[in-house]
Amino acid sequence: MTKVALVTGAKGGIGSAITQGLVDAGYRVIATYFPTGEAKAKEWFAENNYSDSQVRLLPLDVTDAAYCEEALTTLLKEEGKIDVLVNNAGITRDSTFKRMTVQQWKEVMSTNLDSLFNVTHPLFASMCDNGFGRIINISSVNGLKGQFGQANYSAAKAGMIGFTKALAAEGARYGVTVNAIAPGYTGTPMVEAIKPEVLDAIKAEIPMKRLAQPNEVSASVNFLASDAAAYITGETLSVNGGLYMH
Ligand code: CAA
Repeated sequence: MTKVALVTGAKGGIGSAITQGLVDAGYRVIATYFPTGEAKAKEWFAENNYSDSQVRLLPLDVTDAAYCEEALTTLLKEEGKIDVLVNNAGITRDSTFKRMTVQQWKEVMSTNLDSLFNVTHPLFASMCDNGFGRIINISSVNGLKGQFGQANYSAAKAGMIGFTKALAAEGARYGVTVNAIAPGYTGTPMVEAIKPEVLDAIKAEIPMKRLAQPNEVSASVNFLASDAAAYITGETLSVNGGLYMH
């Protein structure tokens, strides 16, 4: 029976690679996008030549708990099950802490951290009932090591790791594993937005001297989603070119 995966922020830099990786492995993917981005989501779907059985687009505001509860409860009825959840949606609002506004703090917290509750809560019980589930949270190297200019983002990404461990403890007896991936700097629009001189300094610090490719992150998603990873839970897998070893 075809496994069904849900990926938030699916048309983004890493999200696109995750979606493609899961489609290539035979999953049906529910690809969520921010509700105002419907036209772009349809373009992305067409550009990638997805069929309706491979990918279903779903508008989802991951910052809105009531919206997620309603949309995902309906989705579960329609799809019958969700086997794999990839909490990937995330944003940056970089600023030195002295200049950071409460809005920059809150936007990052609600998209990167509150979203874990909003999206996972409506799906978790059904995974437990089914006796199978894979929850994969896309954290960041900067949640592990801390990053200048990212007090908000580092806090949220570190919070994702605490959530991962706590939920792993709850899901284990039901065959639901919960893991995090901590990508390093990856070749996506988010990283390309960093000032070139700042990005050059970051690259110089990476032992591999290059950015990650998005498909190097998605390969880890496929592994953690697979049956082969059944005994791995509560883990954070770094994909960072050696930037932070812990
Ligand atoms: N460590 C120590 N000092 C640093 C520093 C660092 N990593 N980065 C900058 N500084 C210093 C600068 O040298 C500068 O010092 P002087 O005033 O003495 O010259 C001072 O801090 C201010 O730096 P900027 O000129 O860059 O300040 P700004 O206000 O223009 O920009 C910033 C601040 C937006 C935070 C900018 O430094 C920046 O973009 N930094 C990169 C943040 C980053 O890595 N973001 C990751 C985005 S990608 C992502 O998040 C994906 C992922 O998961 C990895």
